[in-house]
Amino acid sequence: MKKLKLILNLLATVLLGGTVPAVAAAELHLIPWPAQITQQDGQFAVNEQTAVVADHAFASEAAGLSAALHLTNTAAASKNRIELTTRGAHGLAAEAYQLEVSPAGITIRAASPAGAFYGCQTLQQLIEPQTRTVPVVKITDAPRYAWRGFMLDVSRHYFDQSTILREIDWMAGYKLNRLHLHLTDDPAWRLEIQKYPELTSTGARGNFSDSNAPAAYFTRAAMSQIIAYAQARHIVVVPEIDMPGHASAATRTFPQLDGGVHTFNPGREETYDFLQNVLLDVMETFPSPWIHLGGDEVDCSVWKTDPTVAQKLQADGLNSPQQLEQSFVRRMAGYIHDHGRTPVGWDEVAAAKPVKDTLIFWWRHDRPEVLASALAGGYNVVLAPRAPCYFDYPQDLTYPVKGRKLFNTLDAVYRGPEIPKTITPAQRQHIIGVEGCLWTERITTTSYLEFMTMPRLAALSEMAWTTDEARDFARFDGCLKPFLQQYRENGIHYYDETDPAGSLHDANQSATRSAQREKPARPASAMVNN
Ligand code: ACM
Repeated sequence: MKKLKLILNLLATVLLGGTVPAVAAAELHLIPWPAQITQQDGQFAVNEQTAVVADHAFASEAAGLSAALHLTNTAAASKNRIELTTRGAHGLAAEAYQLEVSPAGITIRAASPAGAFYGCQTLQQLIEPQTRTVPVVKITDAPRYAWRGFMLDVSRHYFDQSTILREIDWMAGYKLNRLHLHLTDDPAWRLEIQKYPELTSTGARGNFSDSNAPAAYFTRAAMSQIIAYAQARHIVVVPEIDMPGHASAATRTFPQLDGGVHTFNPGREETYDFLQNVLLDVMETFPSPWIHLGGDEVDCSVWKTDPTVAQKLQADGLNSPQQLEQSFVRRMAGYIHDHGRTPVGWDEVAAAKPVKDTLIFWWRHDRPEVLASALAGGYNVVLAPRAPCYFDYPQDLTYPVKGRKLFNTLDAVYRGPEIPKTITPAQRQHIIGVEGCLWTERITTTSYLEFMTMPRLAALSEMAWTTDEARDFARFDGCLKPFLQQYRENGIHYYDETDPAGSLHDANQSATRSAQREKPARPASAMVNN
C-alpha cells in the first residue's frame, strides 16, 4: 500500500512537476531537511571518471568534495560531472544553494563558497553508499538561522585538538557554523596568552575532577590549526574568556587580581589592564568577528568588603557592587567593540546595557523575561536555554547525572526552545540563531562526550536550519537511521534510544579501556596540545 502510494506520488510529481509529497521525499535521508525539494525518477551514477568542476571561487569546496568522494578527475570538458558554479545563482542568499541532479550530471549553484559547501554536504548525504547513485532531485535550500552554534567547555575537562577536529567534521556535515569554545573557567585556563605564560604553566593545571591534573591547553599554533580547519568548513571558532566571574584559574595564578568568590577584582585598574591584554592576544589568535566575554553567574557579594572596590565605587559615582559589575561589563564589551569585533555575553550582561551591537546568549530558560528584556533593549539574541539546549543534561531519566535535574530528549532538542508569546514578530527578527551547549563538569572522556552529543547534534542542526513549518520529528527520526549506521561504522558512541542503558555502558566501557591503555602516567608536556 505504502509502495503504491509512493509510485502514485512520484508519477504525480513527474507529470505535474510539483513538490514531492512527504511520503516520497521521506525516502531521502537528509539532515537538516532542505527548504524545497522536488524528486523525480532516475538517478546519476558517480564513478571514477566523474569530474568535479568548479568556478575559481569554489575551488576549495570542490577539492573537499573530490577528496570526500575519492574523485581525481577535474577536467573541465568532462560530460560526466559535478559542477559547482555561481552561474544562475543570482538572488541566492549567502548560505543558500541549489542542487540539481539529472541522469547526465549534477550542478550545485551558489552565490558564495558557504552555499557551495552546503550544497556539497547535501550531495554527500544523497549518495547511496553501496551503488554510489544519486536520485534525480532539485533542491533549493537556505538556513532558517544565521547562527547555528555548538559550544564546548574545555575548561572543566580538557578535550584535545583531535577531538575538536572531529566535532568540527560532524558540525560541518550538519551545516552548523559556529563553534564556541568556553576556554576559561574555575578549574583551568586553556589558551596560551603570550604575555602571561603563567596562565598556562600554572592556570592550565587541574580539571573539575582533579585539581592536580597536569597542565593541558591549546597553544596559539594548535588553536590556529583548529581555526583554519573550521574555516575551511565554513565554521567560525568563537572564543570565550569568562569574566568577571568563573575566574579562579586566572586569579589563583595572579592572586592580586582576585575579587573573591571566583571573580576578578573590578576595583583594581590592574584587572582591566590584564583582561585587555588577554583580549588583544585572543583577537590576534582568533579572526572571529565575535568575542565572548562570558558575564554569567557573578557573585559580587564579597566585593563590598574590598577597599579597592569601595574606592572605585566612589570614584565612578556608583552605588553598589551590582552597578560596578555592570560598569565592568560595559567597559569590556566597549573594548571589544572598539577593536572592531562584536562582543558576546551570557544573558546577565543585557542588564548592564552594553554597546548596542553586543550579542546576547539567552541561557536561563526559566527566566523568559530576560530574553524579552534583551530583545526589548534592541539586542540581537542567540537562543541557548538550558532546556532544551544543554547537552550535558541527560537524554532521559534512565540514568541520573549528578547536579543535573533536567533532561533534554532528542525530540525536545528537535522542537527547539520555546519563544515566549510576548515576543513580537519584529523582536523575533533579532533572534539570530540557536546554540547547543556541552558543559563538561561531568564529562571526563571522549566516548562520553560523543554519547552526550550524538545524535542530539543532528536534531540541533535541523532545528537551526529548517523552519518550524518544515520540521517533522517522525521524518527526522527516519532520516537518522543511516547516520546512526555511520556512527557505528566510525566507532562514534551515541545515545541509542532503543537501548539507552546499553549504549551508555558501551561508552563507559570504551572510556575505561582507553584509560587502561594510557595507564603509565605521561609527563605533563605530553598533555599539552602543541
Ligand atoms: C551558564 O550556564 N552559566 C551560562
